[in-house]
Amino acid sequence: MPDSLSLGFIGFGEAGFAIARGLHEAGVEGILFIHGRRQDPARAALATKRGREAGAAAVDTARELAARSDYLLSVVPPAAALDAAREFAPFLGPGKVYVDLTSSSPRDMQAAAKLIEAAGASFVDGALMGPVPAEGRRVLTFLAGPQAEAVAAALNGIGMNCRSVGAEAGQAAAIKLILSIATKGFGGLLVEMLLAGHHFRVEETVLTVLNDQFFGRGLEYVVDRFVGSDAIYAGRRAVEMQAAQQLLEELGIDPVMVRATVERLQWSASLDLSAKFGGVVPAGYREVVRAWEEIGLFDRQPRKPE
Ligand SMILES: NC(=O)c1ccc[n+]([C@@H]2O[C@H](COP(=O)([O-])OP(=O)(O)OC[C@H]3O[C@@H](n4cnc5c(N)ncnc54)[C@H](OP(=O)(O)O)[C@@H]3O)[C@@H](O)[C@H]2O)c1
Repeated sequence: MPDSLSLGFIGFGEAGFAIARGLHEAGVEGILFIHGRRQDPARAALATKRGREAGAAAVDTARELAARSDYLLSVVPPAAALDAAREFAPFLGPGKVYVDLTSSSPRDMQAAAKLIEAAGASFVDGALMGPVPAEGRRVLTFLAGPQAEAVAAALNGIGMNCRSVGAEAGQAAAIKLILSIATKGFGGLLVEMLLAGHHFRVEETVLTVLNDQFFGRGLEYVVDRFVGSDAIYAGRRAVEMQAAQQLLEELGIDPVMVRATVERLQWSASLDLSAKFGGVVPAGYREVVRAWEEIGLFDRQPRKPE
């Protein structure tokens, strides 16, 4: 890896601009960028203004950006990520590093990796794990791919905050997406809980109990407790949750999350893990994951990109 990096940003919106400006303020020079609607005078003017603030120069073609940059950082909208990889691949080769920082799916990251690696360049899948305008170049950035460790070291060397999370492209994107299952899903459940709670003016007490009995004891406790007992008591809980579903319906609240939870509990009960564990709640979630493995839940391979 070179000591001083020549950086080229593909996309110079909120995220690309904020990272570039932070790097510029930290002393990184010679940053280049390309943006999408180059024919649109208003977009071009905004890009020029941003470029001035970030000490970065706009280039007009993918060929030029690729030729003048060792590290290409793609920060385009997810829908444009594969198009960008396709556009740049013909101009890349050995020694070039393409870091895809878009919030794309693991599958799209793997497809982009194929395009870039076929050209002989290195591909790194990246996930920006926080609000970039607020955190700038220091935003926690997960990287994955065969070169992830070396690329993380190089980008950290110029002031970024990268962490290698795996040697396969798609793993960083997977972490970000999978995390949102819990953060967004739990958010949806909390909304339904508060809607019902406020109807009875009991939401403060409900939250206090939720904290005292569960979340106040730490995440590991919560995961062990919820997933461990799911393996044994899912059937009973499905029935209890149906009562919660009925309550929400009576209150005129569409119980979207609760209804889905009933279905998930019924699915868990159908696995019959209670018999496997002899009716005793396993000590932790890892035992349940092992049981899922043993009954073949992970045998089906995810579809690979074409
Ligand atoms: N903003 C955040 O805090 C944040 C946090 C986590 C992850 N992310 C991810 O970072 C990426 C960028 O987000 P953003 O908020 O910066 O979006 P944005 O403000 O909409 O900026 C997107 C940029 O990409 C350019 N672009 C679009 N298609 C292009 C192409 N084919 N070639 C070159 N440039 C192209 C756009 O140019 P024009 O405007 O000229 O078309 C614009 O400069 C997304 O994948 C997003 O999910 C952002």
